[in-house]
Amino acid sequence: MSFTGLRSVVLCLGLLALPALAADKSVAPYLAAAPQKPTLLQMLASALKPKSAHAAPSEHRPRIRHATAAVRKQPKAPSAPAVTEAPVAEPTTVGAAVAPPAQLSEAELAAKGLELFNDASLSGGGKASCATCHFSTGHTNNKTYVGLDVVADGDPNGRNTPTLWGVGERAVFGWAGQAPTLEDSIRGIIVNRMKGPEPSPETLAALVAYVRTLNYPANWQVKGDGTPREDASAAVRRGYELYIGDGGCGTCHQLPSFDKKSKDDIGTGGKFKVPTLHAAASTAPYFHDGRTASLRDAVKLMWEFYAKKMETRLPTEAELDDLTAYVGAL
Ligand code: HEC
Ligand code: HEC
Repeated sequence: MSFTGLRSVVLCLGLLALPALAADKSVAPYLAAAPQKPTLLQMLASALKPKSAHAAPSEHRPRIRHATAAVRKQPKAPSAPAVTEAPVAEPTTVGAAVAPPAQLSEAELAAKGLELFNDASLSGGGKASCATCHFSTGHTNNKTYVGLDVVADGDPNGRNTPTLWGVGERAVFGWAGQAPTLEDSIRGIIVNRMKGPEPSPETLAALVAYVRTLNYPANWQVKGDGTPREDASAAVRRGYELYIGDGGCGTCHQLPSFDKKSKDDIGTGGKFKVPTLHAAASTAPYFHDGRTASLRDAVKLMWEFYAKKMETRLPTEAELDDLTAYVGAL
């Protein structure tokens, strides 16, 4: 699926551009840096998708450019407002003085969590770290496990590694929805799956803080509310209509999170949580046990289930392609 490749490219470029952004020490590095020298991300984003959302901020740049140019005449522009507007800004300054340390400690906690995420001593015998299965970016290694052992996809006891991107937005954890909170979920994995020692509350807090920082990559085809962007491909736009229409997908994988905070029996061997479909293009194999290798087969299985349950029609091959294009673009 070429759009997946494109999205990865955009994501990678975004990561490449981060050091450049971080190097700029101003308050709004992205905006302040833009007028002087477009970042690598901006140049390539506009080259790749001239009319996409990535290009949208540039429409506002001229205005910012003027503002920045005016401010730039003063040395240390970012701190200037605090000095010149001192009387007005006093209450904000007090608030600001309190806020940063709290933010910093959350960031420090997440940084500690990242270290622990790669620490094999959390497991019995130092056999695996979280990153063994969720890789260092918290996504999935696309394997199916019983404990720490890889099993064949489709094994009824197997559980496919889910992505942790967006995990902070979920309310049901584990395929069977067995863990009520993120903390319980991680504790259960350390103790039961990894056979590691009981984790301290500090360890759990750090891991929770870290995984909460893992977000989905930016999406140029589908908006935050789940509707396709104007310049999304025609297949994606048709697929969206099927998703909320005849396919019935939206009744369970509800917009805008594409999940449901509960479980359902769809004939896969019990009640399982309705998983999110964000990033589904790169989470194969599918379902709790990894029973289908391709996204198209997963979409087909789901429509067939829905059609049987609701006694409605089956999709045409072309409709399956379109619906798969939409789900693959999420
Ligand atoms: C052996 C591979 C493996 C390792 C190691 C592993 N996980 Fe997982 N993780 C999985 C699988 C498989 C599931 C699904 C489990 C289930 O449904 O019972 C999962 C589920 C999760 C979930 C729930 C996500 C959701 O949407 O339901 C979280 C959170 C999580 N893992 C975090 C971690 C953390 C943090 C660590 C390290 C302490 C870790 N995992 C180590 C394979 C692994
Ligand atoms: C009755 C609720 C329901 C409806 C309707 C439904 N799904 Fe699902 N879907 C689920 C559940 C529950 C699972 C997880 C089942 C499992 O793991 O065995 C799932 C899993 C999936 C998966 C696999 C996700 C992954 O990460 O492995 C995809 C893809 C999917 N659904 C797409 C669709 C599409 C497309 C439609 C519309 C044609 C649809 N679903 C309709 C409940 C539903």
